Amino acid sequence: MKIVSSEFVKSSKDVNLCPQENIPEYAFIGRSNVGKSSLINKLTNKKKLAKISGTPGKTQLINHFVINQEVKPWYLVDLPGYGFAKAPKSEKTKWMGFIRRYMTSRENLVCVFVLVDSRHSPQRVDLEFMEWLAIKSIPFIIVFTKGDKLSNPKLVKSIASYKKKMLLSWEFLPQTFVTSAESGSGVTELLAYIEQLNIDFRTHK
Ligand code: GTP
Ligand code: MG
Repeated sequence: MKIVSSEFVKSSKDVNLCPQENIPEYAFIGRSNVGKSSLINKLTNKKKLAKISGTPGKTQLINHFVINQEVKPWYLVDLPGYGFAKAPKSEKTKWMGFIRRYMTSRENLVCVFVLVDSRHSPQRVDLEFMEWLAIKSIPFIIVFTKGDKLSNPKLVKSIASYKKKMLLSWEFLPQTFVTSAESGSGVTELLAYIEQLNIDFRTHK
């Protein structure tokens, strides 16, 4: 799929304030600093569409971007990261509340993209979040980020080991992609996947 336009729509502090629900939507979630905003910028080929920072916790609120507005529009959503150790407990609970409300009640949410760092082994916070998604029957995939930070053999090994560990508690795994917001690897594949889901959304509407 070719991206011909991408625009920021709005930032919302709760699901009832989000833009109208008539087009397919994909949400990026994962630990702070995993590269959610960077990957959105790479997908849309705009360096400053979503705000990026080396300091975890940059993205707050639910941020909607509309892609291909004049052609076949769809939304990309950038969310705040979870699992930021320094955040006080009250903040974490608040985060859980508004993100979970968004995920369970947003009718046009086609798929959640759970981003995990390709260098890391499965983290409890990610596994717990994926379990929650499964219990709520919210479709999701795993996107391994920062693929450029490892040599190819190490990358392959790290991802194989992640999957193997996950299979200790999961019967089967969701679809996975390996990406880099630095080199752009995996971007074409991810966009092709979204294109197919967009087609499904429009045929079943
Ligand atoms: P929060 O909004 O704080 O939850 O973070 P985020 O998940 O949106 O991460 P963000 O995109 O802001 O990136 C965090 C840091 O990682 C930045 O310094 C990015 O430049 C860097 N980064 C993100 N993706 C990649 C990647 O694919 N490769 C490399 N080398 N660095 C990356
Ligand atoms: Mg961000």
